Amino acid sequence: MLELTEKVIDETRQGEAFAPSAIEAVGAKRHFYIESYGCQMNFSDSEIVASILAEDGFGATRNFEEADLILLNTCSIREKAEQTVRKRLTEFRKLKQSRPGMLVGVLGCMAERLKSKFLEEEKLVDLVVGPDAYRTLPQLISEADGGQKAVNVLLSREETYADIAPVRLNSNGITAFVSIMRGCNNMCSFCVVPFTRGRERSRDNVSIVNECRSLFEGGYREVTLLGQNVDSYYYTADGAEPVNFAQLLEQVALVSPLLRVRFATSHPKDITDDVLHTMAKYENICKYIHLPLQSGSTRVLQLMNRTYTREWYQAKVDRIKEIMPDCALSSDVIAGFCTETEEEHRETLSMMEHAKYEMSYMFFYSERPGTLAQRRYKDDIPEDVKKRRLTEIVNLQNRLSLESNRKDLGKTYKVLIESTSRRSESDWMGRNSQNKVIVFAKNGQDLKPGDYVNVTVQECTKATLLGSIV
Ligand code: SAH
Ligand code: SF4
Ligand code: F3S
Repeated sequence: MLELTEKVIDETRQGEAFAPSAIEAVGAKRHFYIESYGCQMNFSDSEIVASILAEDGFGATRNFEEADLILLNTCSIREKAEQTVRKRLTEFRKLKQSRPGMLVGVLGCMAERLKSKFLEEEKLVDLVVGPDAYRTLPQLISEADGGQKAVNVLLSREETYADIAPVRLNSNGITAFVSIMRGCNNMCSFCVVPFTRGRERSRDNVSIVNECRSLFEGGYREVTLLGQNVDSYYYTADGAEPVNFAQLLEQVALVSPLLRVRFATSHPKDITDDVLHTMAKYENICKYIHLPLQSGSTRVLQLMNRTYTREWYQAKVDRIKEIMPDCALSSDVIAGFCTETEEEHRETLSMMEHAKYEMSYMFFYSERPGTLAQRRYKDDIPEDVKKRRLTEIVNLQNRLSLESNRKDLGKTYKVLIESTSRRSESDWMGRNSQNKVIVFAKNGQDLKPGDYVNVTVQECTKATLLGSIV
């Protein structure tokens, strides 16, 4: 019997950390250690940072006790995300006392949000570097080496790091994230991202396609195009026709039919029929859309400044299913936003039922300093009510996930093998186009990660499908 515990591995928003594995420094004099928190954008940025540091002569280490430079790439999205980072910093305090030359740096959204205030609050931190300032890391490190506190939190309207080849960290060698844009111009009232990441800007499509091609040539078989709002991707090279997201998707899909293409995140107000038709046209564009709902109530959506209504969202879901009946959907949901009533909460539940999400990221509302909601509305839903509503949302999602997986029993899917299953050496783990994790016995066949194989689903839990090779 196989055990059904392969976790959905892209659940990165809960503050998972990772350490570099891909670059072993030959003859490097100094070593860095990096941990990332938050969304995939941050994980992707850490790969840019690794590349910049490697150029500067740093080697990577997986063991922070050996590091000359410890970096935390941080997230501010909810208060808990910030608390996790602060706790981690206190763990480094002791180490720093025993290693005088060692530097500690804070990167990412918390660095941007708190700026030099960070240095007053956390005295052991030597470097504070915002998401658009990573090119200046070498210079900031030498300032910090000289005993100064080094800060650069300038946001940019142009920086996309387009020319920097990311060093793949903790990679399985098969799937990779490719950043296609930075920042966000939406002003969802609960959200800190526009303040920590700055204005939206799109990366040169040619550099994106080239990166995807070189990943494919290096053996990768899946790319996930990343942005806070990919549907508003828009790039115009000098003298050329503008490229929108549907066109970019097509260009990436044409790299090779063997290269799977995914993307995140879509905003319900911006995803176009053009994008849906492009998805339908190419088999290698995965039939999976992350379409955050946030709330199922039009009044709450309005307070959230999401700029769509319940009806608009529902129509989008229906349109997706009409164009691609086999398309899977996932969502982000916030419980207990300011003034949310019980009835409005139930509207969220009923929309989840309608959309039949395969998976959701679910949170209770956490007020963030400086956001529109913090300035305009009272965070008036008591914590116990928020938590109870969240529990109802989670329970419903668990049921929907299980129901969706049960519907897959007996079906056969083309699966991209990612790795040996974490639970058993004798099983493979891969995903289908719908982004569902499938575990199946190796059965002595001559297969390897990166291969495609047809698998029939025989059993399931809410998180995993179990099958066997056809
Ligand atoms: N750009 C993406 C989401 C980025 S943040 C989008 O527009 O969908 C990821 C998720 O965190 C959000 O979708 C939202 O559900 C959640 N989130 C953001 N701010 C939050 C807050 N203040 N409290 C609770 N959840 C929040
Ligand atoms: Fe935040 Fe809204 Fe932008 Fe997403 S679209 S990053 S939720 S402001
Ligand atoms: Fe967090 Fe910043 Fe991403 S706040 S969710 S790491 S953009």
